Amino acid sequence: MKEEKLKELLEDMTLKEKVNQMFQVSGSLYSEDSVLTGPMKENGFTEENLALAGSVIGVQDAAAMWKIQEKYIKQHPHGIPLLFMLDVINGYRTVFPIPLGQGAAFRPDLTRRCAEAAAREASASGIHVTFAPMADLVRDARWGRVMESTGEDPYLNGLFCQAMVRGFQGEDVGERGRLAACVKHFAAYGAPVAGRDYNTVELSEHTLREFYLPAYRKGIEAGAELVMTSFNTINGIPATGNKFLMRQVLRKEFGFDGVLISDWTAIEELIAHGYCEDRKDAAYKAVRAGVDIDMMSGIYPEFLVRLVEDGEVPLEMVDHAVWRILRLKNRLGLFENPFKDAGQAEEKKFFLCPEHRLLAREAAAKSFVLLKNEGVLPLHPEDKTVWIGPYLDTREMIGSWSFTGDKSAVSTIREVLPEYAVHTEGCQGCPILEPETDFRGLSDAGKHLFCQKEQEQLMQEAERYARSAETVVLFLGEHSMQSGEASSRTQPVVPEIQMELFRRISRINSNLVVVLFSGRPLEVREISRKAKAVLEVWLPGTEGARAILETLMGKRAPEGKLSMSFPWDVGQVPVYYNEDSTGRPDLEEAKEDRFRSRYLDAPNGALYPFGYGLTYTQFQISPVRLNGSVLRPGESLKAVVALENTGNCEGTETLQLYIRDVSASVVRPVKELRDFRKVTLRSGESKEVTFEIREEQLRFWRADGTFGSEKGRFQVFIGQDSGVRDYATFELL
Ligand code: BGC
Repeated sequence: MKEEKLKELLEDMTLKEKVNQMFQVSGSLYSEDSVLTGPMKENGFTEENLALAGSVIGVQDAAAMWKIQEKYIKQHPHGIPLLFMLDVINGYRTVFPIPLGQGAAFRPDLTRRCAEAAAREASASGIHVTFAPMADLVRDARWGRVMESTGEDPYLNGLFCQAMVRGFQGEDVGERGRLAACVKHFAAYGAPVAGRDYNTVELSEHTLREFYLPAYRKGIEAGAELVMTSFNTINGIPATGNKFLMRQVLRKEFGFDGVLISDWTAIEELIAHGYCEDRKDAAYKAVRAGVDIDMMSGIYPEFLVRLVEDGEVPLEMVDHAVWRILRLKNRLGLFENPFKDAGQAEEKKFFLCPEHRLLAREAAAKSFVLLKNEGVLPLHPEDKTVWIGPYLDTREMIGSWSFTGDKSAVSTIREVLPEYAVHTEGCQGCPILEPETDFRGLSDAGKHLFCQKEQEQLMQEAERYARSAETVVLFLGEHSMQSGEASSRTQPVVPEIQMELFRRISRINSNLVVVLFSGRPLEVREISRKAKAVLEVWLPGTEGARAILETLMGKRAPEGKLSMSFPWDVGQVPVYYNEDSTGRPDLEEAKEDRFRSRYLDAPNGALYPFGYGLTYTQFQISPVRLNGSVLRPGESLKAVVALENTGNCEGTETLQLYIRDVSASVVRPVKELRDFRKVTLRSGESKEVTFEIREEQLRFWRADGTFGSEKGRFQVFIGQDSGVRDYATFELL
């Protein structure tokens, strides 16, 4: 539809129609047998609201979408189509690795392709908008939602956010197979105090702007059509009622002109926060702060008409919001074709098609991080290996956000073993969780039926297998429902029942490989000490089992690098590499000095820091060389290292460029990732790798409240992880 026509349409709409465009409701309320009950009804939500609501959440099949849309348009006074939204996070029917795993691949382009495939499948079911990417920076492994982030680094998160937006949306969201992306959760949802979900966020403006905001901004610059608010307060004001965040930062500074949607019932939660008196006050504050769509509270349709009529909310404010919503529908082409790509034939064509499955396998394999390897991996197919652990027989590996995923399409490790190994015997040894685990509100995911005697028999069976073999591979990890939303844990560790299995097996057979499944960094010090090899595989998705076996057997080499640090001890959390310099750094030469910034009972650093990950070969890096000692604005410097593959097989290294600003008007991090490069070398091969350094990479949020660089000395590090020590120095003029 031409823009003028769209404007005419807006002018022709009644206030009630407009306000209802700003309301999102559950798609289940449109099913034939649904009756309005419960909180919706109590909150004054009416059949009329259902007839006029602008968007729905939760419908996930083409046939249902067609039915709802057809009926809806017919009765709508202006025939405006509904917008269908859903969380398509790391895949739709084909599930890719969780975002934290994708972060570890350090391959934004691969992530872009995964988002493209997810968009093809989801749009075939009639979905128009996905609530992704989540651009929240994360530092605290206790927070269950770290699984949905790509990690602790603002630069890396920005690249991934951009890649996902481009993958979902393509050049034009109206094209076939595209979805509109929604960058979330604005802002700083990833920094809840003590890692407890939905908890308070306290961040200085410096930390907010320097670390937390850049990734959202990248997504917006990539053209994201929507942004979602977050549940948390930020420095005392809930994000969903936060004018500074939404009107000043998002709209004015970032220039975001798309649709801003609240998180699920977040407008209503302004009351529980103690920020609003009642629902009317919540409507007033949320709309004035800039929220365009009320997801699921029913507060806008209940109060906005009255607020405008009473002159408390300017009509113009509503008009602007509705304009953005109509324009999004128009960009998606819904006025011409309200069903867009929805069709059962499309679903059949794209769901779990061979290309998507292959991509899922590649993405999974590239996300794996080899944390330790004392010469046991890759395994030899002829060796007598036994396969033990609760992840041997489970399809849980698609992760907690994969409710749209087709679990039946996931193969278990045991099912694919015969394709890769001669010896395929093994057993579970124990369930994923101990029986007393609290799984409130989450189906029967954690329930299992073993009594103590049966449990002991399982352990003994595992011990017998371990005795009979040269090598044991143990598949251990968190339950997929232990990470994700509302899954905070004070102890991010492998469940105790599995640790018992691990200890019993490690006493019998020291040739032990641990394959670790998790949605977050875990404290794995004991495992790492006792096992000969540890491979972190996250929650790898539909093709996880084959990707794991291919890696264990050496058909593929692991190449992932952690995008979030693994703590040495839970008590260090939050532990992250890019921390500010202290006045009393824990330096090697000050070892004997007590009065330093350090723990008495643990090292400062992570067990496995950001950027860390091994592969099946080894690399050596020369000291970094610069082609000059000064950098002038507008020019660039070259930083060079020679990389050599000194091991026995081909391998891929991720060379990482870090920079430290030695002194500035604001204390700077000890190191910041500014670039990286994947380099593949054959055994014995070497190569010079060059990075360019420009003034733009040296900018930060300065003491005077502006972004920019400051003259002075900088250190340049190029290494295999964030622990790199060797550096060269230059001066910015
Ligand atoms: C989550 C969002 C999600 C929304 C809709 C909320 O609980 O925080 O990330 O997009 O639900 O499902």
